[in-house]
Amino acid sequence: MIPFIDLKAQFAALESEIRTRMDAVLAHGGFIMGPEVAELEKALAEYVGVPHCVTCASGTDALLMALMAWGVGPGDVVFTTPFTFIATAEVVTLLGATPVYVDIDPATFNLDPGSLAKAMDAVEAGDPSIHPLPAACRGKRLRPRAVISVDLFGLPADYHLIEALCAEGGLLLLEDAAQGFGGEIQGKKACAFGHAAATSFFPAKPLGCYGDGGAVFTRDAETAAVLKSIRVHGKGSHKYDNARLGLNARLDTLQAAILLPKLAAFPRELDARQQAADRYAAGLGGIAGVTVPAAPAGYRSAWAQYSILLDVDRDKVAAGLKARGVPSAVYYPCPLHLQTAYAHLGYARGDMPVSEDCAARILALPMHPYLDAATQDTVCQAVAEAVAEAR
Ligand SMILES: Cc1ncc(COP(=O)(O)O)c(C=O)c1O
Repeated sequence: MIPFIDLKAQFAALESEIRTRMDAVLAHGGFIMGPEVAELEKALAEYVGVPHCVTCASGTDALLMALMAWGVGPGDVVFTTPFTFIATAEVVTLLGATPVYVDIDPATFNLDPGSLAKAMDAVEAGDPSIHPLPAACRGKRLRPRAVISVDLFGLPADYHLIEALCAEGGLLLLEDAAQGFGGEIQGKKACAFGHAAATSFFPAKPLGCYGDGGAVFTRDAETAAVLKSIRVHGKGSHKYDNARLGLNARLDTLQAAILLPKLAAFPRELDARQQAADRYAAGLGGIAGVTVPAAPAGYRSAWAQYSILLDVDRDKVAAGLKARGVPSAVYYPCPLHLQTAYAHLGYARGDMPVSEDCAARILALPMHPYLDAATQDTVCQAVAEAVAEAR
């Protein structure tokens, strides 16, 4: 079987730098908040081009910490996409706030700014005839507080329009760049949009460590200081002074040590991902029944995933690929407004038609920076044959 993501190939390429960095941590023994953590935060902030980076224990914690720093809680509405990993909305619900789902643009799989504008109007009026709303918002006035946009599969969301809508509506914008680190819009890097941004260093992410990890980025010094406090149980002026409630959400020094050489190799790996995406577009673009993903003009994707849309039975295509030794995956088979965990919101099938359609037709193919042309030819041939069989 061809690997879906080849972390072993990456380790083979970077092994000596990674081992040297890990050995240094084992020797100095500063496993919690050792010097590599501050070194990584400085390097990440420079890479993104914002003044503050606060690393943490996962992408989920990064999202949660940003919302906690803003004081998001009961009575607040947070607008977000249902076509994402559960963590994006889970943090909203964990804090007692209400997620309001907004449908996506089928060309990018990201939040549709037109639907966001309608959802904002609907919440303002408490009127679900303007845009589908969760039961808690129908006929009631909850406080619109924030938007969490997702850079799905590595492609930044439409920040030009989303930032303008947030400014108009007085909303905070949190960029969920868990998959998007490395993406760009006209040279501006992912994690530099909105009032704060969260990313994940889960091993399969474009910049991944060897366990869980994440980071929050912000231009605001005060928010950064609160994030640093929340990361360590709401720490105040010393370890046993608790200024607020917080979490145990630090990034391990060993994970920072692993990320430093990976960050150095990251620009080269992003170029390799782009080349792989271009080769797929050339090899798959002509197959009837297959729509290949494309970044809009001026956008650069980090190509965390390479997801195609199929006009034929997706499960048959996936089975045909598997029979040919080609793995595939479905991100995501069930949009969040239809998840059991969100049944209490009272959404129904048909409320987010584009997300529902994409969830039924999407299929992700092997994608990583060490994918060679011959392997991609095999994948493209297998897709052509599997799609023909599924007709
Ligand atoms: C869009 C999105 N947001 C948040 C997360 C959560 O990141 P983590 O797994 O590091 O907690 C993920 C991880 O898959 C994700 O894909």
